[in-house]
Amino acid sequence: MKRPSHLAIIMDGNGRWAKRKNKSRHFGHIRGTQVAKSIIQECAKLKIPYLTLYAFSSENWLRPAAEVSILMKILNKYLKKETTNLVKENIRFNTIGDSSQLSEEIRSIVNDAKNRTAHCTGMTLTFALSYGGRQELTHAIQAIAEKIKSGDLKSDMINEDLVRGYLPSNHLPDPDLILRTSGEKRLSNFLLWQSAYSELYFSEKLWPDFTEADLQEALIHYSSRERRYGRISDLPSTQLT
Ligand code: FPP
Repeated sequence: MKRPSHLAIIMDGNGRWAKRKNKSRHFGHIRGTQVAKSIIQECAKLKIPYLTLYAFSSENWLRPAAEVSILMKILNKYLKKETTNLVKENIRFNTIGDSSQLSEEIRSIVNDAKNRTAHCTGMTLTFALSYGGRQELTHAIQAIAEKIKSGDLKSDMINEDLVRGYLPSNHLPDPDLILRTSGEKRLSNFLLWQSAYSELYFSEKLWPDFTEADLQEALIHYSSRERRYGRISDLPSTQLT
Protein backbone atom coordinates (compact mmCIF):
# COMPACT_ATOMS: atom_id res chain seq x y z
CA MET A 1 0.00 0.00 0.00
CA LYS A 2 1.36 3.45 -0.94
CA ARG A 3 1.79 5.44 2.29
CA PRO A 4 2.20 9.20 2.69
CA SER A 5 5.71 10.30 3.68
CA HIS A 6 4.19 13.28 5.41
CA LEU A 7 0.77 13.14 7.00
CA ALA A 8 -0.64 16.36 8.45
CA ILE A 9 -3.74 16.36 10.64
CA ILE A 10 -6.25 19.05 11.60
CA MET A 11 -7.65 17.61 14.83
CA ASP A 12 -11.08 19.21 14.87
CA GLY A 13 -14.22 18.61 16.90
CA ASN A 14 -13.15 18.44 20.56
CA GLY A 15 -15.65 21.13 21.57
CA ARG A 16 -18.62 19.62 19.71
CA TRP A 17 -17.80 16.18 21.08
CA ALA A 18 -17.85 17.51 24.65
CA LYS A 19 -21.05 19.49 24.04
CA ARG A 20 -22.85 16.38 22.80
CA LYS A 21 -21.92 14.73 26.07
CA ASN A 22 -22.94 17.73 28.15
CA LYS A 23 -19.36 18.14 29.28
CA SER A 24 -16.98 21.11 29.29
CA ARG A 25 -14.75 21.91 26.30
CA HIS A 26 -11.85 21.11 28.63
CA PHE A 27 -13.08 17.52 28.78
CA GLY A 28 -13.12 17.40 24.96
CA HIS A 29 -9.53 18.63 24.73
CA ILE A 30 -8.36 16.06 27.30
CA ARG A 31 -9.99 13.26 25.31
CA GLY A 32 -8.55 14.81 22.11
CA THR A 33 -5.07 14.61 23.59
CA GLN A 34 -5.50 10.90 24.40
CA VAL A 35 -6.54 10.33 20.78
CA ALA A 36 -3.53 12.34 19.56
CA LYS A 37 -1.28 10.05 21.64
CA SER A 38 -2.75 6.89 20.08
CA ILE A 39 -2.56 8.28 16.55
CA ILE A 40 1.08 9.37 17.08
CA GLN A 41 1.92 5.83 18.22
CA GLU A 42 0.04 4.28 15.32
CA CYS A 43 1.79 6.50 12.76
CA ALA A 44 5.17 5.60 14.28
CA LYS A 45 4.22 1.93 14.11
CA LEU A 46 3.19 2.34 10.46
CA LYS A 47 6.58 3.98 9.84
CA ILE A 48 5.15 7.20 8.48
CA PRO A 49 8.28 9.39 8.34
CA TYR A 50 6.63 12.75 9.11
CA LEU A 51 3.52 13.51 11.14
CA THR A 52 2.38 17.10 11.71
CA LEU A 53 -0.45 17.95 14.08
CA TYR A 54 -2.27 21.29 14.13
CA ALA A 55 -2.23 21.66 17.90
CA PHE A 56 -2.86 25.41 18.24
CA SER A 57 -3.48 27.94 15.48
CA SER A 58 -2.61 31.64 15.43
CA GLU A 59 -6.36 32.26 15.55
CA ASN A 60 -6.82 30.04 18.62
CA TRP A 61 -5.33 32.90 20.71
CA LEU A 62 -8.68 34.63 20.14
CA ARG A 63 -10.56 31.98 22.14
CA PRO A 64 -11.61 32.86 25.70
CA ALA A 65 -8.57 33.19 27.97
CA ALA A 66 -9.75 30.26 30.11
CA GLU A 67 -9.74 27.91 27.11
CA VAL A 68 -6.34 29.13 25.88
CA SER A 69 -4.97 28.55 29.35
CA ILE A 70 -6.39 25.01 29.44
CA LEU A 71 -4.92 24.17 26.02
CA MET A 72 -1.51 25.45 27.17
CA LYS A 73 -1.76 23.42 30.38
CA ILE A 74 -2.61 20.32 28.36
CA LEU A 75 0.36 20.91 26.08
CA ASN A 76 2.64 21.51 29.05
CA LYS A 77 1.51 18.29 30.71
CA TYR A 78 1.69 16.30 27.47
CA LEU A 79 5.29 17.30 26.76
CA LYS A 80 6.46 16.86 30.37
CA LYS A 81 4.99 13.38 30.46
CA GLU A 82 5.53 12.18 26.93
CA THR A 83 9.04 13.35 26.01
CA THR A 84 10.58 10.26 27.65
CA ASN A 85 8.26 8.04 25.60
CA LEU A 86 9.09 9.94 22.42
CA VAL A 87 12.79 9.23 23.05
CA LYS A 88 12.03 5.55 23.75
CA GLU A 89 10.03 5.34 20.51
CA ASN A 90 12.81 7.13 18.57
CA ILE A 91 10.44 9.98 17.63
CA ARG A 92 11.95 13.37 16.93
CA PHE A 93 9.88 16.29 18.18
CA ASN A 94 9.67 19.59 16.41
CA THR A 95 7.41 22.63 16.16
CA ILE A 96 6.42 25.20 13.57
CA GLY A 97 4.71 28.47 14.39
CA ASP A 98 5.35 31.74 16.16
CA SER A 99 7.02 30.64 19.38
CA SER A 100 7.44 34.27 20.50
CA GLN A 101 3.74 34.23 21.45
CA LEU A 102 4.17 31.25 23.78
CA SER A 103 4.93 31.73 27.46
CA GLU A 104 8.50 31.39 28.68
CA GLU A 105 7.54 28.18 30.46
CA ILE A 106 5.99 26.53 27.37
CA ARG A 107 8.92 27.66 25.21
CA SER A 108 11.34 26.06 27.60
CA ILE A 109 9.40 22.76 27.76
CA VAL A 110 9.10 22.72 23.96
CA ASN A 111 12.85 23.34 23.60
CA ASP A 112 13.62 20.64 26.12
CA ALA A 113 11.50 18.14 24.13
CA LYS A 114 13.25 19.18 20.91
CA ASN A 115 16.71 18.85 22.44
CA ARG A 116 16.03 15.52 24.12
CA THR A 117 14.66 14.00 20.89
CA ALA A 118 17.14 15.67 18.51
CA HIS A 119 19.10 12.43 18.01
CA CYS A 120 16.00 10.35 17.21
CA THR A 121 15.92 8.93 13.72
CA GLY A 122 12.41 7.46 13.51
CA MET A 123 9.31 9.51 12.81
CA THR A 124 9.50 13.32 12.94
CA LEU A 125 6.54 14.60 14.94
CA THR A 126 5.81 18.29 14.42
CA PHE A 127 3.31 20.28 16.44
CA ALA A 128 2.01 23.36 14.63
CA LEU A 129 1.84 25.67 17.64
CA SER A 130 0.69 29.25 17.42
CA TYR A 131 0.84 28.50 13.73
CA GLY A 132 -0.78 30.26 10.80
CA GLY A 133 0.04 29.75 7.13
CA ARG A 134 -0.55 33.39 6.23
CA GLN A 135 1.56 34.59 9.16
CA GLU A 136 4.38 32.23 8.12
CA LEU A 137 4.27 33.56 4.55
CA THR A 138 4.10 37.16 5.75
CA HIS A 139 7.25 36.65 7.87
CA ALA A 140 9.02 35.07 4.91
CA ILE A 141 8.09 38.03 2.68
CA GLN A 142 9.35 40.48 5.34
CA ALA A 143 12.65 38.61 5.62
CA ILE A 144 13.09 38.52 1.83
CA ALA A 145 12.28 42.26 1.61
CA GLU A 146 14.96 42.97 4.26
CA LYS A 147 17.53 41.04 2.20
CA ILE A 148 16.64 43.05 -0.91
CA LYS A 149 16.86 46.28 1.08
CA SER A 150 20.31 45.38 2.37
CA GLY A 151 21.45 44.49 -1.14
CA ASP A 152 22.03 40.80 -0.32
CA LEU A 153 19.30 39.70 -2.72
CA LYS A 154 17.97 40.83 -6.07
CA SER A 155 14.27 40.47 -6.89
CA ASP A 156 15.00 38.31 -9.95
CA MET A 157 16.64 35.78 -7.60
CA ILE A 158 13.29 35.06 -5.94
CA ASN A 159 11.98 31.68 -6.99
CA GLU A 160 9.99 28.90 -5.32
CA ASP A 161 13.07 27.30 -3.76
CA LEU A 162 14.15 30.59 -2.26
CA VAL A 163 10.69 31.27 -0.77
CA ARG A 164 10.57 27.74 0.63
CA GLY A 165 13.95 28.34 2.27
CA TYR A 166 12.46 31.22 4.24
CA LEU A 167 9.64 29.12 5.68
CA PRO A 168 10.38 27.68 9.14
CA SER A 169 8.94 24.38 7.95
CA ASN A 170 11.60 24.06 5.24
CA HIS A 171 13.06 20.97 6.93
CA LEU A 172 9.78 19.11 6.25
CA PRO A 173 8.69 17.69 2.92
CA ASP A 174 5.32 19.00 1.71
CA PRO A 175 2.46 17.00 3.22
CA ASP A 176 1.26 14.23 0.90
CA LEU A 177 -1.98 13.92 2.79
CA ILE A 178 -3.88 16.41 4.95
CA LEU A 179 -6.59 14.86 7.06
CA ARG A 180 -9.26 16.87 8.86
CA THR A 181 -11.81 15.46 11.24
CA SER A 182 -15.29 16.69 12.23
CA GLY A 183 -16.77 17.03 8.74
CA GLU A 184 -15.47 20.58 8.16
CA LYS A 185 -13.93 20.93 4.72
CA ARG A 186 -11.38 23.71 5.02
CA LEU A 187 -7.67 24.17 5.62
CA SER A 188 -8.11 26.93 8.23
CA ASN A 189 -4.75 28.59 7.55
CA PHE A 190 -2.81 25.32 7.83
CA LEU A 191 0.29 24.79 5.66
CA LEU A 192 -0.97 27.05 2.86
CA TRP A 193 2.21 27.05 0.78
CA GLN A 194 3.02 23.42 1.49
CA SER A 195 -0.45 22.05 0.64
CA ALA A 196 -0.36 23.06 -3.06
CA TYR A 197 -0.43 19.41 -4.18
CA SER A 198 -1.52 17.64 -1.01
CA GLU A 199 -4.33 15.13 -1.14
CA LEU A 200 -7.14 16.15 1.21
CA TYR A 201 -9.19 13.72 3.27
CA PHE A 202 -12.14 14.73 5.42
CA SER A 203 -13.48 12.42 8.09
CA GLU A 204 -16.94 12.92 9.54
CA LYS A 205 -15.72 11.70 12.93
CA LEU A 206 -15.09 14.26 15.66
CA TRP A 207 -11.44 14.10 16.73
CA PRO A 208 -12.11 12.49 20.15
CA ASP A 209 -13.92 9.65 18.32
CA PHE A 210 -11.20 9.17 15.70
CA THR A 211 -9.62 5.72 15.90
CA GLU A 212 -6.72 3.76 14.43
CA ALA A 213 -9.27 2.11 12.10
CA ASP A 214 -10.34 5.56 10.85
CA LEU A 215 -6.70 6.38 10.19
CA GLN A 216 -6.35 3.13 8.27
CA GLU A 217 -9.39 4.08 6.16
CA ALA A 218 -7.82 7.46 5.33
CA LEU A 219 -4.55 5.76 4.36
CA ILE A 220 -6.34 3.24 2.14
CA HIS A 221 -8.17 6.11 0.47
CA TYR A 222 -4.85 7.94 -0.04
CA SER A 223 -3.19 4.89 -1.55
CA SER A 224 -5.89 4.71 -4.21
CA ARG A 225 -5.42 8.32 -5.32
CA GLU A 226 -3.36 9.20 -8.35
CA ARG A 227 -1.27 12.34 -7.89
CA ARG A 228 -0.52 14.09 -11.16
CA TYR A 229 0.91 17.43 -9.95
CA GLY A 230 -0.85 19.27 -12.77
CA ARG A 231 0.32 16.83 -15.41
CA ILE A 232 -1.70 14.04 -17.01
CA SER A 233 -1.35 10.37 -16.27
CA ASP A 234 0.66 8.07 -18.48
CA LEU A 235 -1.48 7.56 -21.54
CA PRO A 236 -0.73 5.50 -24.63
CA SER A 237 0.96 7.90 -27.09
CA THR A 238 -2.02 7.60 -29.48
CA GLN A 239 -4.23 9.34 -26.91
CA LEU A 240 -1.80 12.21 -26.33
CA THR A 241 -2.24 13.82 -29.72
C1 FPP B 1 -10.15 21.68 17.65
O1 FPP B 1 -11.28 21.38 18.39
C2 FPP B 1 -8.95 21.43 18.38
C3 FPP B 1 -8.10 22.37 18.87
C4 FPP B 1 -8.33 23.83 18.81
C5 FPP B 1 -6.87 22.05 19.50
C6 FPP B 1 -6.37 20.66 19.24
C7 FPP B 1 -5.83 20.24 20.49
C8 FPP B 1 -5.87 19.00 21.00
C9 FPP B 1 -6.36 17.80 20.28
C10 FPP B 1 -5.38 18.82 22.34
C11 FPP B 1 -3.91 19.08 22.48
C12 FPP B 1 -3.11 18.17 21.64
C13 FPP B 1 -1.90 17.76 21.95
C14 FPP B 1 -1.31 16.80 20.99
C15 FPP B 1 -1.17 18.14 23.14
P1 FPP B 1 -12.31 22.56 18.64
O2 FPP B 1 -12.13 23.02 20.02
O3 FPP B 1 -12.14 23.60 17.59
O4 FPP B 1 -13.65 21.79 18.44
P2 FPP B 1 -15.02 22.40 17.92
O5 FPP B 1 -14.77 22.87 16.51
O6 FPP B 1 -15.93 21.22 17.97
O7 FPP B 1 -15.38 23.49 18.86
